[in-house]
Order: sequence, then structure tokens, then C-alpha cells
Amino acid sequence: MNKSHIVLGITGGIAAYKAAELLRLLTKQGVSVQVAMTEAACHFITPTTMQGLSGKPVISSQWDARVPNSMAHINLSREADAIVIAPASADFIAKLAHGLADDLLSTLCLARDCPLLIAPAMNREMWQNPATRRNIAQLLADGIQVLGPDSGMQACGEEGAGRMLEPEQLAEHIVASFQPKLLPGARILITAGPTYEAIDAVRGITNRSSGKMGYAIARAALEMGAEVILVSGPTALTAPAGAQTTNVQSAAQMYEAVMHNVARSDIFIAVAAVADYHIAQPSEHKIKKSNAPLTLELIPNPDILADVATLPNPPYCVGFAAESENLVEYAEQKRQAKKLPLLVGNIAQQAIGSDDNELILFDDHGIHPLPRADKLTLARQLMQHIAQRYTAR
Ligand code: C5P
Repeated sequence: MNKSHIVLGITGGIAAYKAAELLRLLTKQGVSVQVAMTEAACHFITPTTMQGLSGKPVISSQWDARVPNSMAHINLSREADAIVIAPASADFIAKLAHGLADDLLSTLCLARDCPLLIAPAMNREMWQNPATRRNIAQLLADGIQVLGPDSGMQACGEEGAGRMLEPEQLAEHIVASFQPKLLPGARILITAGPTYEAIDAVRGITNRSSGKMGYAIARAALEMGAEVILVSGPTALTAPAGAQTTNVQSAAQMYEAVMHNVARSDIFIAVAAVADYHIAQPSEHKIKKSNAPLTLELIPNPDILADVATLPNPPYCVGFAAESENLVEYAEQKRQAKKLPLLVGNIAQQAIGSDDNELILFDDHGIHPLPRADKLTLARQLMQHIAQRYTAR
């Protein structure tokens, strides 16, 4: 990602003010950005703002004397890994659909030899207009990626589809589109989240796990071109688009869902915090409170990962170990005990529920620390490591 370079094209629309935040988020992730603006865009946000944030002069005219060969439309596109138009106005979309090239940005798009992504932003009637529908269908047929739009309250006070996606969502899509397709067609089975073991109709025992790490890994695997089967315990998260998700509650249900899918999986990543025990006889009805001590009989749950890793023909197995102390020692012990080619260790107090984490990878080649970062960045780094080890087997 560090070497990625994009042209961020801004066209005339009120959502142009959000392009500044998008630019900031992209540069934060190591993307270098050259901004190109239409004349209309300069009425909504100034080139000075965009120059300040990108550290590069903004290009907005075909006749810019600063470009020595007067070929900005060619130079800018050849240097870019992608062109992103955000916001893309209805007028600009119409131009793209028809191959018009009457200003710098449209000429640049026509002359490009790299992917083009657009984030439409317009009034809901403009978005629904048959002309715009035709134009969007044409862009999709031409292989242009259309990000959004979202629905909701519009600047004009109306409500409907046409809002530009939020800068955070756009930055995620853009960075995702750069991820190397290291695992095309590989089937990856992932467990995520906690499990919940019922005591009675309303109570249960569970582990603390938000599911964020497992869901981020599922996303990173999808970005790499893999097919993802996600078996998830109860979480508040939305499953990544494109994952085949099975929602479960108990460890027994998670076990069953994993075993159902394991034969067709190439890689198994067990991120779930599986409860170690279930209640011997959960009560169907709510147990009435009393002052007498209550004894619960706890029966050990099967170890899903250990059972998968010892199958006759197992997938490439990756385990997680959340420890509260002695991470290096306990994690390597766990890797040996469960017979895993790769184990990912993290410190429980730092990891649970947080958006950031810090990982240590243990495999036959030694120890590989992944320094503190947000969980999606770590998931991408981990998936690159897994892809390397898996393909080199
Ligand atoms: O709980 P423990 O520290 O042993 O978990 C280590 C790894 O084993 C994790 O990857 C976890 O998902 C997996 N595991 C499992 N089934 C269990 C317990 C743990 O798959 N019953």
C-alpha cells in the first residue's frame, strides 16, 4: 500500500467538502494523492485546501503552464494506480458515459490506463432520472467501479438515494481495491466472536470478544480474492459483504458449522473466543432466584481447532491465543499442543473490544511481530503472511 498513488478528481457538488477528509484519510494510510479539480469544484472547495492537505499543487486546467509538456492528462494518468472521482456529479457521470473530454479531468479519465472508481453525489431525482440510470449502467459495463451512493438526508433538504458515501467508507473501498489478489479462489473458513452457553432461558456464560478481529480477517481475505465462509458467534457487527455467514450461539453449534464446511476449505482461521465449558443441563425456563447457593455442572467443550488440525487431510490451520501474561511462552506451547503451522498471539487486555491491536505470529520460521495498528491493517498483514506460507507449502 505504501507505494500507491492515486489521482483524486473532484467535481462540482456540495459533497466536495468531504473530499478534504477523504484525502486526509488516504494520505494517513500511506496513499500519495494528486488532486485534480473541475472548475465547478473550485466553487465548492478551494484548491488551496486540497494543496495544503496533499502537499502537491492542484491541477485544474488543461492549459496549466506549470506542466512542461502540456500533457497533464497523460502524465497524471500514467503515474496513477487508480483515478478516484469523489464526488462525481451527474454531469460528470454523463460525460464519462459518453467519452467526452472537454476539460482536464474528463480528458484525464478518457486517457487513463488504470482503474477508475467514482463516488456519485447528487439530488435523489437526478440519481433516479432515467438518463443517469442509463449512464451508470454504461459505466458499470465499461468496468468502472461505482461506490455508493448512500441514502438519507440531502443537502437540499430532500431525503433519498444520492448522498455520497462517507469519506471513511470511500477510503476503505479505495484501499481495498489496491490489495494484492494473493489468494484467488481459495476457500477460507473463519470462526469469529464469542460463543454463548445457556444456563437457562435468559442467562448464559460467554467470553468477552467483539468479533472485530475475526470480521476484519474475513474482509482482508475477501479483498485478496478468496471465498470466505464465516462462522460467527453473537456479535453486534455486520458481516462483510461477500462472506457466506453462518450465525451460531453455542460452541456445539460452532463445532457443527465448522465440521460441515471444513472438507471444502483450504485454510481454517480460528479467531473465535470459544467457551471452554457448557452447562450440563440448561434449564428451559428461567431459574427462580433464591438465597440458596446454586451449583452448575460445567462440561468441557470440544476444541474445534485441535480437532480440525488433527483431521487426516486438514486445511492450513491458524489459531489465535489471547493471553493476559507470558504471551510468547504460552502461545508457542499452544501452537505445539494443537499441532498448528501458525498461531497468532495477542495480549487479551489490549485486544478485547478495542479497534487497535498488536499481534505476534508464531510459525516454523520463528516469531514475527506485527506492531500496533487498527485491526483491518493487521488483518491485511496477517493475511499476506498466511498467503505466503500457504502457497509455499
Ligand atoms: O481457548 P484457547 O486459548 O485454547 O484458544 C486457542 C485457539 O483455539 C483459538 O484459535 C480458538 O479459536 C480455538 N479454539 C477452538 N475451540 C475451542 C477452544 C479454542 O477452536 N473449544
